[in-house]
Parts: sequence; structure tokens; C-alpha cells
Amino acid sequence: MATNVITPHQANPVASPTTVPDEAPTVSFLSNSSTTASVNIEAKAPIEAIRALFDHLHASTDDVSKLNATYAHRGVMKTAALHKTESDQKFTIDLSPMRNTRIPQELRDSLDPHGLGEVLNFFDKLSADYVPTILDSLSLLAGTDLSAAHKSYNMNYRLCDYNPHTADPESSNGCGAHTDYGTFSIIFQDGTSGLELEETPGTWVPVPGDATVVLTGWCAVILSGGRVSAAKHRVRRTPGVRRISAVLFVAPDLDVKLQPLGAAQPVKSFSDSIMRGDLDVETFKEVMGKRWRYREGNEEMENGDSISQDNEIEKMVWG
Ligand SMILES: [Fe+2]
Repeated sequence: MATNVITPHQANPVASPTTVPDEAPTVSFLSNSSTTASVNIEAKAPIEAIRALFDHLHASTDDVSKLNATYAHRGVMKTAALHKTESDQKFTIDLSPMRNTRIPQELRDSLDPHGLGEVLNFFDKLSADYVPTILDSLSLLAGTDLSAAHKSYNMNYRLCDYNPHTADPESSNGCGAHTDYGTFSIIFQDGTSGLELEETPGTWVPVPGDATVVLTGWCAVILSGGRVSAAKHRVRRTPGVRRISAVLFVAPDLDVKLQPLGAAQPVKSFSDSIMRGDLDVETFKEVMGKRWRYREGNEEMENGDSISQDNEIEKMVWG
């Protein structure tokens, strides 16, 4: 059983180990530690199936075209790293419960032997088994019930292939430093190191390559009134080494107003706009998405837009 870390730092834990329900899967808190919570996630990502799916799609431009046509707005498989040296040097496949329903049977029949069915089953079971428990545990940290803001299971399933065969094979930039936008993300890895967390500004700590990690994001910070904070993270590449990962992103419902929930006073000072509830999740995702798509090479920035993801967001959140 792996021990998995929920970061980041919890200055004033509102939960103690005795307050956490102990039914499986267990989520327990490590009090008095800079790392405040651990989750025992027994699920194992189907790394072989993910690798096989990428291998098939790297070789079959026809199936990539068909897959991308199911979500023409942004596509499903992102390959900007093939021709952009400055962007994150990785390939991704972005799925979700909604997108999965758009994959026609003929395409599923073509992709299932290459791992698609196994991958989708994994994420469906993972989300059913773990999302409610993790939300309950985060609610304890947050001091308020987060489940009411997560009724629709706004989730995305992401597969990542940090593949050596990109536009810049020598680049160490697998994924640039950023903080996830949503409530939490669960990252599964194939045993290869590269994921790093920023423990204090400028100090990056490697995460063991076989750890499964739960990271909180901006929406958790805001909804919890600052009781939960969010870790900046990045992925460093080792030239010539392939690394596969799978990520489940969980966010609040799109119409939720992003402001501190519950009666308790926020423990951090938020911008007036956040306190008024001007910003909903859908708008916030759009603002952040523009920046992460730029970093990943999948969208150009317009004149005047900043390439910095976190600084802009911090201004918006903290004022
Ligand atoms: Fe991330």
C-alpha cells in the first residue's frame, strides 16, 4: 500500500487522525507536519495500457484524427511538443466522462485493443471509489462541507507521455511549474521520477517515481477560505527516458461561485472580487486554461496577455 501525500502545508489543521472515518479507502491526516494528510490509494493505474494507447496513436495518425474529431473544440490528443521546443515536452490525451460518450463505437472498437477501454474503466472506478472519500477528508481540512459544490462530478482524465521523441529531445522541461486550477488531482506514475513539488519558493523537492500523489488546487484554496493551500509542481525530464503518468482532475461544478464557503472567517485575505463571489468556476477555468494551454503549446497568447500562469492568478485571488 503506497502512502500518498496531500499537499500542501496546513498551518492550522482542523482535523486530527481521530476525526477521520476509517472505512476503506482510508484517508488520514498526519498532524504537526508540513505535509498534513496522507491517502492510501490502493488503485494502480494501467500503465501498460496507457503506454500501448500512446504507442498506437503515435503510429496511427488516422485514429488520432478520429479521436480529435470527437472533441473538435480543443482535440483529445495534444502533440504540440512534436514541433514546439519551448512548450512542455510531453504528449497528452485528455478524456472525461462527457468526452468518452462522444467516442463512436467504431473508434472504440479500434482503440480498445490498444488499451482505451482499460484506461476508461480505471478512471471510472477510481472516481467512484475515491472522490467522495477525498472530498470528505478535504472538507475536514477546509472546515466546511465541500460536497455541495461537487454535485456534478466535474472531472477530467489525463494521460501523459513524457516521450524522448519531441522537438527538443534534450530539454528537461516536461511540464512547467504551475498550480492546478481545480479542487484536487490524483497523479499516478510509472515508477520514473521527474515530478517535483515546490516546498518553499524556489525549493523543489522530488517526488518518488512510484508514489501516487494527491495535490490540491486553487479552487480548494478559495472554497476553504485559505485553510487548504495548493502546491506548485512541475515535471523535469531526463533526456532519453520515457515517463508515463495518469491524472484524475476533480473540480467544483462549473456554476459554483468561487468564494470561501461556510460561516467561518477566511484565514487568508482574498480579493474583493473573490469575497463577492464574482467569479464562477467556469470563468476561472477559462482564465487559467488559456495559460496552461499556452505552456503546453496548444494555444497562442494574444497581445497583452501574460505568459505567467501563477502570478496573474495570484493577483486575481489575493487582490
Ligand atoms: Fe498539475
